[in-house]
Amino acid sequence: MRSHEAGALHGQAGDRGPAWLRVPEDPDALVPHLWSQNVSKIDGVLAVAGESALELAEEFGTPTYVVDEDDFRARARAFKDAFPDADVYYAGKAFLCVATARWVADEGLNLDVCTGGELAVALRADFPPERIGLHGNNKSVAELRRAVEAGVGRIIIDSVEEIDRLAQITAETGRTARVMVRVTAGVEAHTHEYISTSHEDQKFGFSIADGAALDAVRRVIAADGLDLLGLHSHIGSQIFVTDGFEVAARRVLRLHAQIAAELGVTAPELDLGGGFGIAYTTQDDPSTPEDLARGLLKIVDDECAAMGIDVPHLSIEPGRAIAGPSTFTLYEVGTTKAVALDGGASRRYVSVDGGMSDNIRPALYGADYSCTLASRPSEAPPVLSRVVGKHCESGDIVVKDEFLPGDVRAGDLLAVPGTGAYCRSLASNYNHVPRAAVVAVRDGEARLIVRRETEDDLLGLDVG
Ligand code: LLP
Repeated sequence: MRSHEAGALHGQAGDRGPAWLRVPEDPDALVPHLWSQNVSKIDGVLAVAGESALELAEEFGTPTYVVDEDDFRARARAFKDAFPDADVYYAGKAFLCVATARWVADEGLNLDVCTGGELAVALRADFPPERIGLHGNNKSVAELRRAVEAGVGRIIIDSVEEIDRLAQITAETGRTARVMVRVTAGVEAHTHEYISTSHEDQKFGFSIADGAALDAVRRVIAADGLDLLGLHSHIGSQIFVTDGFEVAARRVLRLHAQIAAELGVTAPELDLGGGFGIAYTTQDDPSTPEDLARGLLKIVDDECAAMGIDVPHLSIEPGRAIAGPSTFTLYEVGTTKAVALDGGASRRYVSVDGGMSDNIRPALYGADYSCTLASRPSEAPPVLSRVVGKHCESGDIVVKDEFLPGDVRAGDLLAVPGTGAYCRSLASNYNHVPRAAVVAVRDGEARLIVRRETEDDLLGLDVG
């Protein structure tokens, strides 16, 4: 039998943990860049925007996703400010509910949705349809029809079938669909394979290299009822190094110029996608929106100047970088266990009341997280700990390696930062565990924005 290619989790003996993990001088202290801006500890108790973790757990129960609303809004604004001449689409797949859709609208951003369900949330929130873009590699006729009828601002085309479907729908409804063509630049982004989207052998987009992208553009131009806005490129997610964006932007701009030269159509827009990485642990060092803007805009300007073409109107689609850092998950500890490792060391297992149903990312991508004791101060020396969930799998890991005070015990609260993106949105009911609540905190007030699922919700689907 072969071990998992990501490496056996249990292969790491010793009580030092992975090389990047620092033994904290003070295990009670927060590492500021891992937390949203209004989080602090007061006498050892975690607080966000004036609400303490103890009050939050008491009022809403655990596990709960706690969103620092001002932090979310500030990150949305920071992208808008850094890219003043571009449109910023918040990628709703990171985390979308009626409240977040409204925050995004308030802050002047646009919204990227990628299914009929996400579109329904946006419309429920009265998000202006002309500021919505619809993605998806397999949009159904019903999804496309709903988008066209609602008047969404753009549909990002990902297949030949979709061009035919849209032509039919626009003919039937007498409306025009503004579309972009999603292209694959052939870039290997430095991220996990499952969230890398611009190499050739994956399902998204039309390949630039094999001519499929140019062919798709030709079909769009020939189709009645479709208005070509431009090209769209998204290379992947949780990316730190900008060379992938640079190569992709160059290749996409060359195609943009080729369309003008060969097909006589100057597409007015260009979307460079999202994918900007955030810090989950001390090993991550993300760029600010300003740095990203400086880098990306320079690449586009230089390339357009070199080809002697006008710079198209740009858009970007950050999801994780807006939602991710705004949120922590609050858990209650239920059990602890010291497990002997090879070489005489031992690892402390701390079980919390959630797990892979509220955060599948460690199991799915081998993602690392960090955490802190949130409910009391502790002077106990730090010990290497693994925070695990309550599900029936040994891969049910919440935080693979963290130094926690050695006296962490049942009834303590733990908080895991950076859980605002791709946690609630990827949540499941595995083992019939109801999905956790989402609470927004602002100016000392906590407000439920997505209620906790109940057993009745789950049983309501089971029609016997
Ligand atoms: N635009 C498009 C077309 C996308 O497919 C995505 C993400 C984004 C924008 C936003 O990317 P972001 O800025 O959030 O990185 N579940 C995975 C991530 C999947 C990303 C899917 N597409 C994870 O938990 O890491």
